[in-house]
Amino acid sequence: MKATEEIKSRLDIVEIIRETVKLRRTGNAYTGFCPFHENKNTPAFVVWPDSGSWKCFGACNDGGDIFSFLMKKEGWQFFEALQYLGRRTGVELEQQTPQQENERQERLRMHNLLTTVSEYYHNLLLDSDAADGARKLLLQRGLSQETWSSFGLGYALSSWDGLRNFCSKNGYSDDDLVVVGLLVKKDTGKVFDRFRDRILMPIYLQQGQVVGFGARVVNSLDQPKFMNSPQTICFDKGSLLYGIEKAYMSIREDRTAVLVEGYMDVIAAHQAGFTNVVSAMGTALTEKQLRLLKRYAPRVVLALDPDIAGDRATLRSLTVARQNLERESAPAFDPRGLLRDEGHLELDIRVATMPNGMDPDEIIAADPETWRSLISEAQPIVDYVMNVFTTGRDLQDSKVKAEIIDDIVPIISDVSHPAERADYKQKLARILRVDERMIQIRKVGTSNSNIKNRTTLESEQFQNVEVLDELENYLLVAMLRKPEVLTRVNRTLREAGSEVLSSRDFGLTEYQRLFDIIKNSINQAVATPKQYIQNNMDAGLYENWKQLSYAGNELILEDERRIQDVISSAIRLRSRNLRGWLIDLQFLESGARDQGDLGQAQNYQDLILQHTRALRGLQSLSRHYSDPLSSLGTNQ
Ligand code: UTP
Ligand code: MN
Repeated sequence: MKATEEIKSRLDIVEIIRETVKLRRTGNAYTGFCPFHENKNTPAFVVWPDSGSWKCFGACNDGGDIFSFLMKKEGWQFFEALQYLGRRTGVELEQQTPQQENERQERLRMHNLLTTVSEYYHNLLLDSDAADGARKLLLQRGLSQETWSSFGLGYALSSWDGLRNFCSKNGYSDDDLVVVGLLVKKDTGKVFDRFRDRILMPIYLQQGQVVGFGARVVNSLDQPKFMNSPQTICFDKGSLLYGIEKAYMSIREDRTAVLVEGYMDVIAAHQAGFTNVVSAMGTALTEKQLRLLKRYAPRVVLALDPDIAGDRATLRSLTVARQNLERESAPAFDPRGLLRDEGHLELDIRVATMPNGMDPDEIIAADPETWRSLISEAQPIVDYVMNVFTTGRDLQDSKVKAEIIDDIVPIISDVSHPAERADYKQKLARILRVDERMIQIRKVGTSNSNIKNRTTLESEQFQNVEVLDELENYLLVAMLRKPEVLTRVNRTLREAGSEVLSSRDFGLTEYQRLFDIIKNSINQAVATPKQYIQNNMDAGLYENWKQLSYAGNELILEDERRIQDVISSAIRLRSRNLRGWLIDLQFLESGARDQGDLGQAQNYQDLILQHTRALRGLQSLSRHYSDPLSSLGTNQ
């Protein structure tokens, strides 16, 4: 038996989930309040001990097995859940290949080095006489010693070889230190400590390993004010967020992440109890960082410095720069880039502007309540940009109107949702008092032009796959071939009023896990989606993956027609599942009724209604699609 199956057979899913969720029996299932979304009225969370699965019928519409439950709850990768449950059930896990093992060992050694170094810096901050100035500065900024420790703050001596000497005593070579960016190596071969006489801020992965440092001057005359670790095998600044290891739990609970510019802002916010705050460390937010945030929350609030954010000229030149220039000097705020990513990522991005020249850090120190209301009143990004472009201008002047339209139309065009696009267009027309028809919005994203004259897919492509379920197979084949297609699928489902595709849409446990890896592959920041998928295949999934990928090699998904085929298959899969879930819900509902719990029965009624509506939404959509799998004789 495979390790995952062995583990499942040894444990009781109800018992484990009960450690976090209060469950009660309803028929042959257990129900409770979903731990992953805010709702204390409907017990929409169901666990089936027989099949070892769970599902939320409410806002998450997510589900899966005990592995996916722990991954979601703890923010773990699959292997972390596997290790945990392996330990808990006493099941031995399969060994990795020697090469994988070597790489793992080397990564581990570098992480240990970085941890050792951060402790070294931290101890210097606490104990060394030389750190007097650094300690004063931190205290002046109102940062308590407790905060120094929780953020692991440190101090680097004003010396060319202080760190080097310490590390060589601890068995690390110069080369090791160069690899992680702590020593600088000149062309002449000379080496010296990168960080000198600075306050050090360790930068962590979400799981808590140190991967690099930010370093702030103590002496305000020193330049530059901040330095970072250089790009190394461990440190990829554009995919990291300062503070994420402390913030991700709160981000998930609040369903909102707050993004600030500076290290100091993050530290001050956390100390004041605002623990959903992270920083992109002074540069423009990358798509990788947005994806990382999106793993935890559907909403990101940018707490922007008014100097940059409020400046119309900057906004306009950013838009132009984005289109024409290489992104050498990344702008700190780029509404168009963000909007594109927003559409692509389905994120709700909002903007909060800080009052007159104040950093978040100063606002929080002055009055935490001000901060709280600034964040809760943040504006949707398009509203924000429209405000910036229109405030203080002469809206009677037709030349000004034309200018504003030119500036804002490209931004509205980037909004992915057609209804929202129309709303903004209307709003802009109202503000400017012009006829809506004057505002020509270019249509993006949802082109339906290719839906007619589609061809059906060649069935030979699937003959090598052990046919268990054509729809599931076909979708996985397509998504393995082109993981990004999932974004399109999800957008269509949403637009039809349905939840995004989830592992719960797939029947086989292997397929559920494969789907989760595909889903994560487009929500992660470390590798290309395909590399990510490859890297995350464990022995148990490897065969499934190889078979499906092989089948997918013939499938050309660059073509819009093919993408529409995939979308239509997803609609069919979801419709089929909705019908199944409706049956589940009807059982739950009658179970509750039998137990005399009419309140709960009513709640299930509501869910039944909701699912029926979703099904209807999809049915009216699928009329636009022909049946791509008709040649395969699917069971639908
Ligand atoms: P700030 O100067 O606002 O930094 O730059 P801060 O963190 O608020 O620090 P204090 O309040 O002045 O002590 C914002 C961010 O921009 C990046 C850093 O990540 C900094 O936290 N930055 C700034 C650099 O990378 N290099 C610089 O020279 C300056
Ligand atoms: Mn500051």
